[in-house]
Amino acid sequence: MASVTSLTDLVSKQLTSALSATRPEASADPLLRRSDRADFQANGILALAKKAKANPRDLATEVVSRITTGDVIEDVEVSGPGFLNITIADRAVLENLAARYADDTGRLGVPLAEKPGITVIDYAQPNVAKEMHVGHLRSAVIGDALRGMLDFTGEKTIGRHHIGDWGTQFGMLIQYLMEHPGELAPASEVDGEQAMSNLNRVYKASRALFDADEAFKERARKRVVALQSGDKETLELWQQFVDESKVYFYSVFEKLDMEIRDDEIVGESAYNEGMPETARLLEEMGVAERSEGALVVFFDDIRGKDDKPVPLIVQKADGGFGYAASDLTAIRDRVFGLHATTLLYVVDVRQSLHFKMVFETARRAGWLNDDVTAHNMGYGTVLGADGKPFKTREGETVRLEDLLDEAVQRAAEVVREKAKDLTEEEIQERAAQVGIGAVKYADLSTSPSRDYKFDLDQMVSLNGDTSVYLQYAYARIQSILRKAGDVRPAAHPELELHEAERALGLHLDAFGDTVFEAAAEYAPHKLTAYLYQLASLYTSFYDKCPVIKPQPPQDVAENRLFLCDLTARTLTKGMALLGIRTPERL
Ligand code: ARG
Repeated sequence: MASVTSLTDLVSKQLTSALSATRPEASADPLLRRSDRADFQANGILALAKKAKANPRDLATEVVSRITTGDVIEDVEVSGPGFLNITIADRAVLENLAARYADDTGRLGVPLAEKPGITVIDYAQPNVAKEMHVGHLRSAVIGDALRGMLDFTGEKTIGRHHIGDWGTQFGMLIQYLMEHPGELAPASEVDGEQAMSNLNRVYKASRALFDADEAFKERARKRVVALQSGDKETLELWQQFVDESKVYFYSVFEKLDMEIRDDEIVGESAYNEGMPETARLLEEMGVAERSEGALVVFFDDIRGKDDKPVPLIVQKADGGFGYAASDLTAIRDRVFGLHATTLLYVVDVRQSLHFKMVFETARRAGWLNDDVTAHNMGYGTVLGADGKPFKTREGETVRLEDLLDEAVQRAAEVVREKAKDLTEEEIQERAAQVGIGAVKYADLSTSPSRDYKFDLDQMVSLNGDTSVYLQYAYARIQSILRKAGDVRPAAHPELELHEAERALGLHLDAFGDTVFEAAAEYAPHKLTAYLYQLASLYTSFYDKCPVIKPQPPQDVAENRLFLCDLTARTLTKGMALLGIRTPERL
């Protein structure tokens, strides 16, 4: 496979060997960064000088004398207290980019990780018989983007949609359905909207009955017991709720332009069978103990009011299992059944205490350790314009579908405004890509741990750090490529580069390194920041370096067109990893 070593890596390697040749006894990271003053700056000599008790400028001068300039590094000089300023040869930049361009695997020359692991990623986990709301957006969007980036590095990812498909509320729902058969149409006969409206109706009606009628309440309680003991008829009705809900989930995920696989929807109930074993193991190992009849785990540092320790409840005093037992059993399954090396959870930050306790319990049990680790990407809240958790005007939680529909509608206005020659059908199609892309991008471009304001006007704006801006940059390049006619993109490494071309070129080279960094840190916002900068660098390149008009010499035109095309390919790839489409025309 045609993988390309990035310029950062090439320079880093040269510097590392020059450093260790200068001071064989001490090792140091050259700390290479992109810089405004030169192409790269290396700051690592300061630390090395400290270790070696040497004068940093003298040491830097010594290191410079060991660097061979030529092919890659054109010039290196000492600056400030002992930094190195490094300039890359134009030819090296262009040859490197040409190799990326020639890679026909769609990876832009980015090599795969040498030792990939298996990450099980728990994301997009709505609850059965309940509407998806704005809170479910982030888990789906962030999870899907992390997965895209991790897959690109070569990591094997397995999705787990831990849907809420178990619990006492099913007693009420199932009992109601038994007494009112036919209220849920078979899942095969409904679309997403009908499914949700049926479920909503049943939910409301059964709730009302449950609250008003003591006898029904009692029958519902008995139904929970029947469900837990595996009564056939009860289970069949339970399955109907799950199936109907899935029809609805799929319709929302489709709107979100997200592929969800059925075999990866493994909800809470899937772990029921393993829960007694989980409890037994934890008790035998002494990780969990009996307290007031319940099986619990205590933690020194987790205390509630009156400084009383707050335990994790593995099994309730009445023998029942809950959310914690299901998550602990899921860990066993993911570690021993799926052979995960990393467990990643994309769940609201409000559940972080739950995961802290669950992970610590699993560590004490030896299911998690230094080689198999777990992380919760606890994400922040989506806020309304007033800075409070996003609600409708009536003060209700916002339905995810309504929010997506509105985004698409708003995007349609932007698309209609811009492109006067599109048919209505084309406008709708693009509006979906622009609107959903805008929602995803706005979510991904803030650090996951932070809250953000849901502001549609800003999200679909053509200016600023939005997906629409990036999509336009992409579509503009496609239009240039179409208009170029006979001039075809081709690299000409013998050419001298304009400052704006170098800046763009060096940034293009950093794509792979950026994805690896963003994936390793679970930080999709680092990739969006990269892409935004890419579009900005492209814009200033395009302003300063005419591509077709006024017509530059043929080789210059071809070379610039090549930079345009590589920019477009990098944009579309980066956006695709995040789950965002880039239409060819806008
Ligand atoms: N269904 C849960 C909710 O909506 C999220 C599940 C998170 N995943 C997990 N393994 N607990 O709150």
